[in-house]
Amino acid sequence: MVGWGAAPSGQGRKPAPRAQQVAASEPLREPPTLKNLSSVPGIVEVNLTAAPARLQLVPGGPRVSVWAYNGSIPGPTLDVHEGDSVIVHFRNELPEMTTVHWHGLHVPNDMDGSPLNPVPPGGSYTYTFRISPGSAGTYWYHPHPDRRTTYQVAMGLYGGLIIRSAHDPLAERGIPERLLILTDNRFNPDGSIAFPDSQSIQAEIDLENGREGNVLFVNGQVAPTIPIRPGEVQRWRIVNASAARVYRMAIPGQSMIHVGSDGGLFEHPREVKELLLADAGRVEVLVRGEEPAGRTVALEDLPYDRYMPQTRPVDWDSTRTVLWLSETAGPPAPRVETPSELRPVPPTDTTHVANRRVIVMSQGLIDQKRMDLNRVDIRARLGTTEIWEVQNVVGMDHPFHVHGLQFQVLDRDGKPEPYRSWKDLVNVPKHSSVRIVLRFADYPGKWMYHCHILDHEDAGMMGILELTR
Ligand code: C2O
Ligand code: CU
Ligand code: CU
Repeated sequence: MVGWGAAPSGQGRKPAPRAQQVAASEPLREPPTLKNLSSVPGIVEVNLTAAPARLQLVPGGPRVSVWAYNGSIPGPTLDVHEGDSVIVHFRNELPEMTTVHWHGLHVPNDMDGSPLNPVPPGGSYTYTFRISPGSAGTYWYHPHPDRRTTYQVAMGLYGGLIIRSAHDPLAERGIPERLLILTDNRFNPDGSIAFPDSQSIQAEIDLENGREGNVLFVNGQVAPTIPIRPGEVQRWRIVNASAARVYRMAIPGQSMIHVGSDGGLFEHPREVKELLLADAGRVEVLVRGEEPAGRTVALEDLPYDRYMPQTRPVDWDSTRTVLWLSETAGPPAPRVETPSELRPVPPTDTTHVANRRVIVMSQGLIDQKRMDLNRVDIRARLGTTEIWEVQNVVGMDHPFHVHGLQFQVLDRDGKPEPYRSWKDLVNVPKHSSVRIVLRFADYPGKWMYHCHILDHEDAGMMGILELTR
């Protein structure tokens, strides 16, 4: 059983403005779910189209030109179960090539939606894959075309993906859940999405920091409200779909229970005061409604210095409100015990390690190279295990991602990881290193590994791993 101790009151934190913003805040909505066209059990067949649209992005603002999946931002959620066979009929109605990348999923190589398999404008592609057993968790999908990912995601192309297990200890206890997709964006005075001119200083800053916007969204809403009853426990699946923003999340005065990461639940829950969520990463947390009812607290994004000193934004140290948690009046919810055992996360066997590699991330480069789609950077064999030491040798953070699998973090700067989890993304802070263990179980082909700051990825901070039998 995990406690729900109160966090120390936020010393030194700037108090967030409360009442007025709350009054204007709308209840959180969830993105639509992709409609399953198949009635055959175990088959999920959906239509997904990327196309230009006009939508209102900022509350009270005009409708502006966006690119959207099935007309909504975020795109509709793909909600599936372990073992399902998924068929996605994808159409590209954009004026340029795109792909759909199923971030974090273990799928055959030609279904990965990497830049090696672009779908031309006006073209279509059927993505078919089986959801691996044991992969229950929170994922997302996004475009991954050569050098255009930042732009396409900023235009509105991203969506959530939930994989469910037949045995979920939290769902079995009736804990209600919500999907929260975090993004940020930047707007012109006329309300349209702002992109810097290619020769501008802002373009250079974006290339360095990654594109950050001053408007924060949750499921496309600005600082929405989540109602919660006193004593009620909710499970939040949080996806950071931002191009570069790292969220350091906290609810002042209360703790959260961290139950999962990129590849699903941990073995045991962990009580935390704050959570660091790099772009493209996911967390699952339990949040409880505290006494007294009637108060409103913010889920805050606290300052986190991931930047080079030269391009660090002037307001980097301000606290932002991500959403409002509104403790509704009324009878307290029945007490829910948080299970202390969630699911097994077996350690990856490291008795036979086929290769130990050092991967060096510097500014815009991996191992001193920019990506070349015609080059293979790392060759490895299926059925083997490798340990990679990912070093960040520069003065800003780079989140490291590998396609097609979930790995485990062994240690950070030599300090053993305190708990085991499945991850496809690990933030490597400035001047530090992280060792990860990867098991190449299945699916030959060329897989990307890269920094997930989208501007860095577009600029070639990416390599290709070829797996062969
Ligand atoms: Cu979110 Cu190359 O991936
Ligand atoms: Cu990916
Ligand atoms: Cu980077």
